[in-house]
Amino acid sequence: MKRIALLLWLSLVLPLAAASDAHREYDAMETYEPHVRGDQSLSGSYKHWAHPGKLDWRLAGNPEENWKLNWKFMDPPFNASVHGGHFALDRGEQLFRELNAKARFARCLGAGKAGLKGLRARYPQYRADLKRIAGLEEVIEYCAAREGRVLQNGSYDNSAVSLYVASQSNGMPMRVDVGKGVMRDAFERGRKLFHTRAGKLHLACSSCHTHKVGLQLRGSVITTPYGDAVHYPVYRTRYFLQSLHLRFAECNLDTRTQPLVPGSRAYTDLEVFMTALSNGYPVTVPSERD
Ligand code: HEC
Repeated sequence: MKRIALLLWLSLVLPLAAASDAHREYDAMETYEPHVRGDQSLSGSYKHWAHPGKLDWRLAGNPEENWKLNWKFMDPPFNASVHGGHFALDRGEQLFRELNAKARFARCLGAGKAGLKGLRARYPQYRADLKRIAGLEEVIEYCAAREGRVLQNGSYDNSAVSLYVASQSNGMPMRVDVGKGVMRDAFERGRKLFHTRAGKLHLACSSCHTHKVGLQLRGSVITTPYGDAVHYPVYRTRYFLQSLHLRFAECNLDTRTQPLVPGSRAYTDLEVFMTALSNGYPVTVPSERD
């Protein structure tokens, strides 16, 4: 009798325990592995996307729209020579000059002899003064505060300065080294997050950005995760200048998942992961999206 009662109890409790853990389920990881070691940390996928006309369309989706999988920000009505991103860039330059009046701000961001050149391509990075890995926007907020200015991560002005700093690395390949140490750990955490289902719709980032690449979601072609980071912050015609973290929040909101604040640890880990996947892609700002 006791045994039956125990079996009954188990049959009730076990499925419940399993169900309550369901949100932690991992999505299958992609088989297309980036190389992430040391100086060879360039992900190596750029060659597949460098020439939109010559894409290897076995990678995904509808051949005619393949270029959109990575160069979505060049979707019409994109006009490279003038769009809202250029105004944001002007604003960023003006703010940067004010902040750097005493030449401290650039140094705080990590600029060496080469000035701002190449700086964007090395973020996110470990900051000894912050005792953590930080994205460029988080460091901009921190360094602006040291100059007595509030430039909240995620705000238009913060992203405008980030855009200006990025513009000084235009055309240079992204190269964050996730080969070892804390950066490697962050990369692995980011990778795990990217593949973990969450939210009311029970979706992982990879449910769309790996498995549904090339398909349309309400008229929007789902992009690969490769190369995205190089054109952020991006000017969105629909609303504002959007940092990568705000894009994460948008995808979280779209899939009914609790969004996090820009600069949160989880988003920074995701940023490390996605930026490593963009290693080798040239920094391309200002860019515009619908
Ligand atoms: C329901 C499917 C879905 C899920 C889940 C999803 N996204 Fe997206 N994501 C999209 C769509 C659709 C777009 C817009 C595609 C476009 O227009 O470029 C997008 C755009 C993006 C972009 C911008 C791409 C670019 O080139 O500008 C990034 C970055 C991104 N998603 C990251 C994430 C991350 C990180 C997660 C998980 C936290 C996630 N997404 C979850 C569907 C999804």
